[in-house]
Amino acid sequence: SETVTRDETGTLTVGGIPATRIAEEFGTPVYVMDETDFRARARAWRTAFGPDADVFYAGKAFLSRAVVRWLHEEGLNLDVCSGGELATALSAGMPADRIALHGNNKSPREIRRAIEAGVGRIVLDSFQEIVRVAHIARELGTRQKVQIRITVGVEAHTHEFIATAHEDQKFGIPLAGGQAAEAVRRALQLDSLELIGVHSHIGSQIFDMSGFEVAARRVVGLLKSIRDEHGVELPEIDLGGGLGIAYTSDDDPREPHEIAKALNEIVTRECEAARLRTPRISVEPGRAIVGPTAFTLYEVGTLKPLEGLRTYVSVDGGMSDNIRTALYDAEYSVSLVSRTSDAEPMLCRVVGKHCESGDIVVRDAFLPADLAPGDLLGVPATGAYCRSMASNYNHVPRPPVVAVRDGEARLIVRRETEEDLLRLDVG
Ligand code: LLP
Repeated sequence: SETVTRDETGTLTVGGIPATRIAEEFGTPVYVMDETDFRARARAWRTAFGPDADVFYAGKAFLSRAVVRWLHEEGLNLDVCSGGELATALSAGMPADRIALHGNNKSPREIRRAIEAGVGRIVLDSFQEIVRVAHIARELGTRQKVQIRITVGVEAHTHEFIATAHEDQKFGIPLAGGQAAEAVRRALQLDSLELIGVHSHIGSQIFDMSGFEVAARRVVGLLKSIRDEHGVELPEIDLGGGLGIAYTSDDDPREPHEIAKALNEIVTRECEAARLRTPRISVEPGRAIVGPTAFTLYEVGTLKPLEGLRTYVSVDGGMSDNIRTALYDAEYSVSLVSRTSDAEPMLCRVVGKHCESGDIVVRDAFLPADLAPGDLLGVPATGAYCRSMASNYNHVPRPPVVAVRDGEARLIVRRETEEDLLRLDVG
C-alpha cells in the first residue's frame, strides 16, 4: 500500500509508524492493518459500482467490530455466514437491512436470529432451506427477502478447495437439470418469502474475468426463464466475490472499476437481448478489500542452515496464524523489516513454531545471510483468511490485530492470553 515505506534506518514503516515500534508495543506475531488502505479499497469498490449496485464485504475474510464500522462509514453492506459474524455485525451497529446471511447449513437459531434482527436478505442454499426459512419467517409473522444461490456450472481456475460453481461440490442449487428453476418455483409459492433474486459465487482468488462473465450470462438466462414461466422479473442478482489479489509479484489483479465495467456491460447486454429490465447488481468481495491491507510481523527465533539445501528460519507464529500455505499451497513473500542488510541473499524456508513439518509460512524465500534471532520479518497480504482462519493449535494464543492510521496504531483485536485458552476448560 502507499503508506508502507522504509525510513532512514531501513525499518519498514506503515502509516508513519516503524514496524519495530509496533513489535515493541504490541508484541509479535501481530497482524498490522492499514486502515487508510482498507477504507480506500472499500471506497474504490463502492465508487466503481455506483449507487445502482450494492457491495457486500464478505466478513469471512476478516471481521471485527472496527472493520464493521469502517464498512458502514464507507457505505458498504456486509455478507455474514454464521451467527457469530451476524452478532459481530449487529453489535458494531451495521444496520440489519444491509446484512446478507449466507451458508449451506444455517441452523434454525441462526435463521431465527437473522429474521428477528431484520436482515436485508437470506441467501437460500438448498431445497430444505427454502422450506426452513419460510417456516421460521411465517412463525415470526414476517415476509423475508431471500435470494437463491445457484451453481452455474463454471470451472473457476483456482485451487480446488475454493472453487464453488462446478457441479460436484456442496454449495448452491444446480442450474443443470432444471433444479434451480424448481427451487424458484417453490420459493415463489411460499407467502413468507419474498424472492428478490438469484445469487452466484464461482470461487475465490480468481484472475480470469471470463468465469464471471459466463456466470452473469447464465444468471440472466435464469431470470429470463423465470419471467417466461411466472411473469415476474426478479429485481436483483448477486455475482459473488472471488477477485484475486497479488500475493507475489507474479499475480496481476483486476481493479474494481474494470470488474464493475465488465459485469455491468455483460448484464446490460444480456438483459437487453432478453428484453428484461436490468436487475440491481450486487457483489461480495472479501479478499480484494482486506487482503492487501495487512501484513504479519514475526520475530525470528532460530536459524538452521542445512548444507546444500536451505536455511530454515523459525518465527514465533506459523500455521496457527496463517494456515493458507499448508492448506492451499499458497505463496507469500517475506522480507526483513527491522533493518537493512547488504549481506548476500540466502535461500530460506520460513517456518512456524508448531509441532508439524508442514508448518510453513513461506516455502521459498531469499533473506540476507546475516539474518539473526531478534530480526523482524514482514509477510505482506495477510489481511484475508489469516486471522479469520487462525487456530489455537498447540495452545498458541491467536495474535492481535493492530490498525494503523495517520501515525497512530491501535488495537482492534487484542492478543489472546493463556487465561483465554484456559477459560474454556471446565474439568
Ligand atoms: N461470497 C461468498 C458466497 C463466498 O463464499 C465467499 C468466499 C465470498 C463471497 C468472498 O470471496 P473473496 O472475495 O474473499 O474471494 N479460505 C479461502 C477462501 C475461501 C472463500 C470462501 N468464500 C482462502 O484462504 O483462500
